[in-house]
Amino acid sequence: MTIHIGAEPGDIAPTVLMPGDPKRATWAAERFLDDARQVNAVRGMAGYTGTWRGHPVTIHGSGMGMASLSIYANELIRDFGARTLIRIGSCGAMQPDVALRDVILAMTASSISTPSSTILRELNFAPCADWGLLRAAMHAAEAMGSTPHVGGIYSSDTFYDERSDLTDALTRHGTLAVEMEAAELYTVAARYGARALAVLTVSDHLITGAALDAQARQSSFGEMVEIALAAAFGVDAAA
Ligand code: HPA
Repeated sequence: MTIHIGAEPGDIAPTVLMPGDPKRATWAAERFLDDARQVNAVRGMAGYTGTWRGHPVTIHGSGMGMASLSIYANELIRDFGARTLIRIGSCGAMQPDVALRDVILAMTASSISTPSSTILRELNFAPCADWGLLRAAMHAAEAMGSTPHVGGIYSSDTFYDERSDLTDALTRHGTLAVEMEAAELYTVAARYGARALAVLTVSDHLITGAALDAQARQSSFGEMVEIALAAAFGVDAAA
């Protein structure tokens, strides 16, 4: 048991999928895992461990924002031995050729700061995805008939952002989308030699103002879970 995860040693699988919303963890565990059992409920944060095609998998919420994700990623890796962590979440598109429902594989994640900035201090660290996971996710997505965008995203500290100049600069520099967790996930994973990736679907568009309805969010979320599971184990989810 750790401060934020009420699991026993061995309750957490080496592979962990991390949606922001704990209710999504419940939904994904019920839908995709066999023999899923709840391994965490501390502070309402849900985590489940079961198997997918015989492989042990934990699906554990991260909460919203890098401060929350950092707590869970640190404890999952350091105290429970997680080695592969895949964020599954939504993002806001920042490019005209990125559409609602599109899948984004985040090769890098820029930020103004992350909780790890307190450790890295003046270093402008470049958080990046694990290459093997990224490649496997690309193959898995293509096998499912999806063509993901692969590139840089922005991990913001604020949802209610008022820096339109920064959004413009990020768009001009090719940033695909904004979300609030990946940069810290990549940094914590790098610190402990673990593998990390963020698989995202576009839920809203910063340029057009368009947004997915609840039904479309749910179905696009399922696609991300399938891509993440297939990537984690290097298999073809469509097979
Ligand atoms: N900003 C930050 N995080 C997000 C957004 C956004 O517009 N959309 C989905 N996650």
